[in-house]
This record gives sequence, structure tokens and C-alpha cells, in this order.
Amino acid sequence: MKILHITPELAPWSKAGGLGDATAALAKAQGALGHDVKAVTPLYGSVPGREGMRVAIPSLAVGVGGPEEKAGCRVLSLQASPGFEAWFIEHHDYYGAREIYPARPDFAERAAFYARAALDACLDSGWTPDVIHCHDWTAGLVPPLLNTVLKQTALGAAATAISVHNLQHQGVAHRGIMDFLGLPGRLWQASELECLGGVNFLKGGILHAGRVITVSPTYAREILTPEFGYGLHEVVRRRESALEGILNGVDADEWNPRTDPLLPANYSSRSLKGKQACRKALTQEFGLADGPGAPPIFGVISRLWEQKGLDLAAAALASFLRDNRLRFVLLGSGDPALEDAYRALAAEFPSRCGVRIGYDHGLSHRIEAGSDFFLMPSRFEPCGLNQMYSMAYGTPPVVRATGGLADTVRPWSPGAKDATGIVFEHADLQGIEWAIGHALRLFSEPKAYRKVQVNGMRTEFSWKLSADRHLTAYRAAGARG
Ligand code: ADP
Ligand code: GLC
Repeated sequence: MKILHITPELAPWSKAGGLGDATAALAKAQGALGHDVKAVTPLYGSVPGREGMRVAIPSLAVGVGGPEEKAGCRVLSLQASPGFEAWFIEHHDYYGAREIYPARPDFAERAAFYARAALDACLDSGWTPDVIHCHDWTAGLVPPLLNTVLKQTALGAAATAISVHNLQHQGVAHRGIMDFLGLPGRLWQASELECLGGVNFLKGGILHAGRVITVSPTYAREILTPEFGYGLHEVVRRRESALEGILNGVDADEWNPRTDPLLPANYSSRSLKGKQACRKALTQEFGLADGPGAPPIFGVISRLWEQKGLDLAAAALASFLRDNRLRFVLLGSGDPALEDAYRALAAEFPSRCGVRIGYDHGLSHRIEAGSDFFLMPSRFEPCGLNQMYSMAYGTPPVVRATGGLADTVRPWSPGAKDATGIVFEHADLQGIEWAIGHALRLFSEPKAYRKVQVNGMRTEFSWKLSADRHLTAYRAAGARG
């Protein structure tokens, strides 16, 4: 099958969170299955390795309005893995800056441009996909474009799917974006793209795509409710018969403690010795007190946003740190108030708590390997990748029962045989305190703890399975091949 992904993030070239990992790993898994896969994404100023890219299209006229001199681009490409080629849209004004999501007044044109360029690149090169798979809001206006303006082109027969990686971010823009893309005026109504006086990109995608995919079965059910729907639950309900949840996986080339070159020592479920070395190195890296009987290390690697529930965790952690019942390390950035709260925690407990504000790929691997538990108290979590990475690294996750966290972690209780982590229900202080206390109890029973570690390490979260399910979804959307 010929598969086109349109995505604002593609790891390792660009990544703000799990979206980059997910799109790249899915495309790679599909290519490995023998499909002909392309992923189109902007060439941000921060994308590495452009010297090694090929110029696939030296000058592409893109079907958008606005100043004529801005309506063209170059397309660079590289072979990412067998069967999977990445196409980068080069446009200095729109994407020359390093950030993936800068706060700019032209954010909507920036998103609309690369999505339309992806389609024009296909038309120009004569490569006609059987399915066009859009990811998140920035690609949301692609299905409406294909159903209207581009219906009579070679792309008009392609099946479409949209993956909702996070329904909270919808991309609501001014009415003029419809003219920029040449979308017909009849789509400007509440039953179509209009939403609270603006054009809602994600709503357009959900309404017009052949298939609506979310990244876990539980999240697919959750977004039908007002609590998780961020105002779009009724729109999602309209598409309920085309909606399904397909779990992300773990890319074992990237996240595997047996081979990970970013770790001070490697290990496997047979011998966790190397994990102890990773733990020791982590305590040294963060200057934490160590020694026999030192309490377990809880790790966090996260965007610091409300979604992740880390405001509640900060309050809960303080009392455990005060009583020397745990040690804690965090890597993340985001909300300045939360960054300050965690800096303050580290300042108050310098020998028990280490905090790095920023983004650090290598450190994220070392935290996964060197921690004893991984904390993810999310208020909502469409899928979540870190809890799966932590299971693979023998670091039982402590998660709230929502979205993909509920679908991937099997809860421990005394006597449980197949548990892989700690799961709690309530997104409040008591809920997190209960969960941390429960984790400490597990840690105090070395045999039970070891079993939970090994269960997690032996659980397979395969991208191949996810790729197969996506193919079934594409066929349900009408894709040939
Ligand atoms: P989300 O996409 O909502 O942020 P996920 O769990 O799906 O959550 O994915 C987060 C990804 O981003 C993981 O690969 C994680 O390791 C990575 N990540 C998040 N914050 C950082 C950071 N500060 N430094 C390095 N990697 C990070
Ligand atoms: C989003 C979600 C996260 C998910 C990721 C990849 O960033 O917040 O839960 O794992 O997309 O699908």
C-alpha cells in the first residue's frame, strides 16, 4: 500500500513530545512490512542533517493564497529506513526558526501551508498514495481539502485517516484561513469547520476523514464525553462509527536496555545488575545521597503541563521527601510556575531530589534506566510512551487510570501475578499519595517488586501490531492495496 503521513513532528528530526516518536516509528514499521511509505513534515531550523538530504522537488508551487512570493517551497528528502522516505518542506519564512510550535500570529498559515505542500508534492511527483494519514490539528484541514477542492485530482480517490494524539490542541484560526486554502464558503458553518467564530482545524479533520483514530482504546471512549472532549465530544460522537483506538508501541531499536548506547551499563530481564550501575550513575549525576538502604528513586520525564498532573505530584512528593521515604529526579520543561515549583523542591531537598529543566535526550534514557519507579499521574493521557519505555527498562510505572496508561499498565496489589505497575484512580492529592505509598509497599517486598519489573520487561508493545491495525483501519476507510 502507498501510505502518506502528514505530521508536524518526526523523530529524530523533530520532536516536542511523543508525537514525533509515534509517527516515525509507525512509518518505519509500515515500511518494514513492505509498504511504500512517505512522511511529510516541515524543515524546521532545528532539523539536523540537512546536508545529507536530496533535493526531491527544487521548486514546488503550493496552492495557497497570500503573497505570491511566499507560495512556493523546496522539498528535501531522505531514505529514513527501508520502505520509508521522509520529505521535508523547506520554507524559510514559515519554518526557518528552530521551534516546532512558536507562538506566532501566522500559526494557522504555517500549519496549512505544509499540509497543502504535502499534497502538492504528491501531485507534482506523480506519487499517488492509497491512504493519506493526518496527525493532530496541524494536518486537520487536509481531509476537507481532499473532499472538496482536490476531489477531482489524482488524490481525490485516496482514503483518509486522522490520528488524534491529543484532543486538547485543536488549532482554532481566523476565517481567512479558508480563503488561504481555497476551501469553499459552505464549510463555514457550525456543522462543518466553524467553531466559536473561528475555523477549527481538528474538527475539520474529524468530520471529513474516512477513519478517526486515537492512540489508545480507552482514550477513544473518553473523548466521547464532555470531560475529555474539550468541546468536541459531540463532533466525535458524530463520527463514532468511524472511531477506534490503536495503541502506540515501543521502538526497540531506540528503547532497549540490552543495547541502549546511551546507558552507562546494559541489562536484561535475566540479570538486572546493569540496572544497579545505571541507578548509581544517576544518583551521582544528580548528586543524590546513596548507600545501602537508601529509599527508591522515582523518576519523571515530561512536558510540564496541566495534562500531566505534575502540579499535584509536587505537593505529594514534598512530604515523602521530608520523611526520607523516596528520592526523586525530574527532567522536563513547560509551565514556568511548575518549573519553579520543582526547582524549589530540589533546593529544599538537595540530597534527595534532582531537577533538570530543559530537554535532554540522553538523560531521558538514563532516568528511565536508573530509576526504581516512573511517575505519570496524568489527568488525561491519549497513549503515553514513557510508561511503556519504563516497563521495558524494568522501572515499574506509577500511573493514573486514564487513556493509554489504563490500557498498558496492569495494576499491582498484594498477591497479583501479572502486574506491571501501580495504577490509581483519582487525579487528586490523595490519589497520588496513595499510589506512592502503594509503590513503597511494593518496593519493600523485593520478590514482588522484582516480579513486577520482569513482567514489564517481558511485555511486548509492538509497533508491528500497531502497524497491522492501522492497515485494517485504512482498508475500512476505503484504501486499496
Ligand atoms: P507527550 O507526547 O504527551 O509529551 P508521551 O509520553 O507520549 O507524552 O511522550 C513524551 C516523549 O517525549 C517521550 O519520548 C519522552 O522521553 C520525551 N520527553 C518529554 N520531555 C522530555 C525532556 N525534557 N527531555 C527529553 N525527552 C523528553
Ligand atoms: C500526544 C499525547 C501522548 C501520546 C503521544 C503520541 O502527545 O499527549 O499521550 O503518547 O501524543 O501518540
